[in-house]
Amino acid sequence: MRDVLVLNGPNLGRLGTREPDVYGATTFKDLVEICETAGRELGLSVEVRQTDDEAEMVGWIHGAADSRTPVILNPAAFTHYSYALRDALAQRTAPLIEVHISNPAAREEFRHTSVVAAVANGTIAGFGVQSYVLALRAIAEM
Ligand code: DQA
Repeated sequence: MRDVLVLNGPNLGRLGTREPDVYGATTFKDLVEICETAGRELGLSVEVRQTDDEAEMVGWIHGAADSRTPVILNPAAFTHYSYALRDALAQRTAPLIEVHISNPAAREEFRHTSVVAAVANGTIAGFGVQSYVLALRAIAEM
């Protein structure tokens, strides 16, 4: 089975209680289960991680580059300003899909810029936690 990493940035560990009007009622634990189940159905071995720490996230991206592991990434707020994350992602050696639960383009102005989009294969945003399932499908077909 092909390994896939699903990496999540700051505050996504609080899904379910965090602004449910924006991000829905699905908890982070539910999200892990949804990704693992979808992965199994697609023949992918999925590992889901979350961190609030930029250095830890950059380390995970380096590890994925070294092991040539595809990454599905919800960079959360890092999306909008982290050049460190962008530079780490530019070293990727396997597919990278940026995902968002909400549609940042339809929200506040500061969310309209993604500093990581240009180094991803593509972005899936606005489909709630289904954004992750769609990204897993894309990886399975790449
Ligand atoms: C988010 C959108 C970002 O703007 C925000 O900072 C997040 C979550 C999303 O999944 O919709 O933390 O990445």
